[in-house]
Amino acid sequence: MESRFTSFVGGPTGPWKVVSIRAISGDGLPSAGHLDLREGLNEAEDAVWQLRGVTSNLRYTQETERKALAAVQPPLSRPEARCAALIPIRKTAAWWLLAQDERRAIIEEQSRHIAIGMAYLPAVARKLFHARDLGEPFDFLTWFEFAPDHAAGFDALLAALRASPEWDYVDREVEIRLERV
Ligand code: HEM
Repeated sequence: MESRFTSFVGGPTGPWKVVSIRAISGDGLPSAGHLDLREGLNEAEDAVWQLRGVTSNLRYTQETERKALAAVQPPLSRPEARCAALIPIRKTAAWWLLAQDERRAIIEEQSRHIAIGMAYLPAVARKLFHARDLGEPFDFLTWFEFAPDHAAGFDALLAALRASPEWDYVDREVEIRLERV
């Protein structure tokens, strides 16, 4: 069975060349030449940094949204998707004190995260990893792949989400932009 655990290893090797590492909020990450995605949580000896995540069940997505997403979302590893972004995110203590229904209201009714994101499908392929319960420095590792032609659209998506009320609860965010070697 494919492991649900993934390590994102910044270091000297890997199929993704690091184009830039930018601290959006809070502390950044040291520079690294390449990124490798490795199955499992084992410590990578060649790592400049290693971020660990696990895939999980949906928390906030409603049935109609889940079906709408499933109908348009593309798979990872499309040959034309030569650009990628790894965006580790941590949310504030105040966020984690909220109840599930309050967090859903902020994510969708107030911020339109899913509705905004949906407009960028199928150009952008994505995968969400949870890291908070692994005791990691970030709560989420978000991963995106797209063709170079859609890089400007991806920037617009980032700007829209970062301007939303949900992002008031983000206290650390690093944007790592990548190109397939
Ligand atoms: C969660 C959709 C882009 C960051 C989610 C969820 C959906 C979603 C449906 C909820 C998952 C659940 O029910 O648990 C999309 C779509 C996007 C997109 C369709 C279009 C490409 C982004 C981007 C970022 C991002 C660009 C980062 C800059 C997150 C984070 C979560 C999340 C951190 C977890 C939120 C939490 O559990 O508190 N997204 N998203 N998403 N997304 Fe997006």
